[in-house]
Amino acid sequence: MAAPVAATGHRPVLLEETLAAMAIRVDGVYVDCTFGRGGHASEILRRLGEGGRLVAIDRDPQAMAAAAAMRDPRLSLCHGAFDRLREFLDDLGLRGRVNGVLFDLGVSSPQLDRPERGFSFLREGPLDMRMDPTAGRPAAEWLASVPERELAGCLHEYGEERHARRIARAIVAARRQQPLTTTTALAEVVARAHPAWPRGQHPATRTFQAIRIYINDELNQLKRGLLQALDTLAVGGRLLVISFHSLEDRIVKQFMRRESGHLEEPGPAVPAGGPRLRIIGRAVRPGEVEIRVNARARSAVLRVAERLE
Ligand SMILES: C[S@@+](CC[C@H](N)C(=O)[O-])C[C@H]1O[C@@H](n2cnc3c(N)ncnc32)[C@H](O)[C@@H]1O
Repeated sequence: MAAPVAATGHRPVLLEETLAAMAIRVDGVYVDCTFGRGGHASEILRRLGEGGRLVAIDRDPQAMAAAAAMRDPRLSLCHGAFDRLREFLDDLGLRGRVNGVLFDLGVSSPQLDRPERGFSFLREGPLDMRMDPTAGRPAAEWLASVPERELAGCLHEYGEERHARRIARAIVAARRQQPLTTTTALAEVVARAHPAWPRGQHPATRTFQAIRIYINDELNQLKRGLLQALDTLAVGGRLLVISFHSLEDRIVKQFMRRESGHLEEPGPAVPAGGPRLRIIGRAVRPGEVEIRVNARARSAVLRVAERLE
């Protein structure tokens, strides 16, 4: 069965798999760190009884407005980045009492589809790319002054763009002529500079991904959010993360391995108290049917772990 589509056009990824792995208790406490349009959250709420609770976090004010519109007394809303998870749960008196924490990373379909948010190279809009337009700097402002080497480093590291130096040089040359203030202006500069890109992709795909990750500090957010999730979970509580590219998935996989005492690579030692997580099952990927109806699911990976004593 295909996952339901929210009224806003957002189709939750790996929905059935996520709900099954969450092992929801009717009176449990759950946290959705990436509420989006509530695709996962509304199905969690459907499985909770009157005594259950769901904390909805999102840094996007439009996502919080959608959560508020649900008018569900079991839902607590926290506007902000999920690296404030501990603080949010302390304020609600729920630290250490959580039965499940979900991260469904990246941008939502409404963020991508609305040109004014500046995430899409296909639709003309201001070059913004902030998940929270009330905080931080829009992409255009950063691109106007970032040194060429730093820009190339960003495209290489966060976009895994093979032609990072060439593209960074073209962006710096273009901004000397005229400030790059729109998504399509940037996309055109990248397309002109790019010598070869993977079939089926737009030449600016990796550049846009890199700038978005940088502007929203996504990988550091993830590292901090995961650590805080550990502090908020009750014993037996579950941590679920859906990631969409290898940079995110590597962080999640290494975190879960390290915290469960299974890290092969050298890295920070497991805390003195011993493993704090147990990995549940293997990484879950969407089936063919889901990928056919939802192209966004193509690269999704769900990883699950359980909090130990
Ligand atoms: C893929 S969407 C989630 C979709 C949601 N599961 C649904 O089914 O509707 C990701 C959401 O997470 C939010 N987000 C991403 N990183 C965040 C962070 N560090 N802190 C808080 N929210 C974040 C984005 O604003 C976006 O709304």
